[in-house]
Amino acid sequence: MSTATDQIQPNDGTGLPDYPGTRSPGCPFDPPPVQAGWRRAEGLTRVRLGNGNIAWAVTRYEDVKQLLGDPRLSADGRRYPQLMETQQHGKQPQTFPRMDDPEHSRIRRTLTGEFTVKRVEAMRPRVRSMVDRFLEEMITAGSPADLVQAYALPIPSLVIALLLGVPYDDRAFFQTRSAVLMRRGAPQEERQAASGELFDFVLDLVKRKEREPGDDLISRMVTERVATGELSHLDVAMNSMILLHAGHETTANMIGLGTLALLENPRQAARIRDTDDPKVVAGAVEELLRYLTIAQDMLVRVATEELLVGGHLVREGEMLVSGLPSANRDGTFEGADSLDLDRDARGHLAFGYGVHQCLGQSLVRVELQEALPALLRRLPNLRLAVPLEEVRFRHDMVVYGVHELPVAW
Ligand code: HEM
Repeated sequence: MSTATDQIQPNDGTGLPDYPGTRSPGCPFDPPPVQAGWRRAEGLTRVRLGNGNIAWAVTRYEDVKQLLGDPRLSADGRRYPQLMETQQHGKQPQTFPRMDDPEHSRIRRTLTGEFTVKRVEAMRPRVRSMVDRFLEEMITAGSPADLVQAYALPIPSLVIALLLGVPYDDRAFFQTRSAVLMRRGAPQEERQAASGELFDFVLDLVKRKEREPGDDLISRMVTERVATGELSHLDVAMNSMILLHAGHETTANMIGLGTLALLENPRQAARIRDTDDPKVVAGAVEELLRYLTIAQDMLVRVATEELLVGGHLVREGEMLVSGLPSANRDGTFEGADSLDLDRDARGHLAFGYGVHQCLGQSLVRVELQEALPALLRRLPNLRLAVPLEEVRFRHDMVVYGVHELPVAW
């Protein structure tokens, strides 16, 4: 066992490796190679995060599970402001992903009913018709196209807009603000402005829906939760903002990067394209989620007491970061560095683990199960329109993916 006191730890982070590290240009789907070294090393590795904070990087599958399932680790941004990428201000209440139980689960529970498998399955026909619509529009506009702008981003943006009751015509507004919040190293003033504008936009909508409720999640929150005193208007606005923000860019990047991974692995792509078995497609989507694990840099916690993680003594008040991309590539999955759409990838950590595990995961699954096969079937000649080296990868964002994906058919 190594102990924190055994080690020389510079306080200002000088000389520490940067987290998450740099991906290898030739292997854009693999986590930064340095993380494989951290995974093999004993104990944990001290790293410097993009915002200058110092943390222990946890990169092995079992250690990440232990960390995310341990109530002695806190996600509470009021108790530990270093957990907040964007300092909230003014009237904005705390976001529930940055709270601990029981407060966190009290708020989360008001939303879980909206994201059950049953509720989301009921949305599948609508998702399918959106997929067809954006596909036809892209084809009509002609080859080549940027798949991100024409397909990957519109689908989840429209899905989440309809679910919440946010006008889709306002997409440019919410997409640009969200993008600022996703940018690693965006200046604090820019972050606060984006977060404030997004919050005010949603708060206005909450008030409007109180006067004229519709058949949407925000209206249901207002009529069912505010009326009973369970949530305040501000809470509803904050929840809606989180869902709007979390709900489109993440899935968009899985569609964009997932498509690229399939184009680069044609035999695997054929597995999805040539089957009409929904189970094969569902399994393939799990494997893509595991293999790509796009949440590269956002899972931070603070130890509320001294504890052992990965045989390493972590002291109270120290920060830890979960390396999901690395954890999903360790020996838990045989031949983990290859994309194998026939493997059983269940149990992967792409959506995190424990009480904060992704609320929207059933929705993501339906969106990917619809968007990826439809694209490959409708455009069997789909190909990258530029050399792979020219694709701009999102090294600079909390969620990995591609900024653009020029494709031809
Ligand atoms: C491919 C798409 C997505 C990925 C990879 C993803 C990944 C994640 C991960 C790793 C977490 C855990 C964060 C933590 O433990 O600190 C998380 C939490 C969360 N996700 Fe997702 N997500 C995706 C899409 C979505 C969508 C579509 C929604 C909403 C419609 C959503 C809503 C949330 C919320 C609200 C939380 C916080 C849950 C809590 O703290 O209780 N996500 N997501």
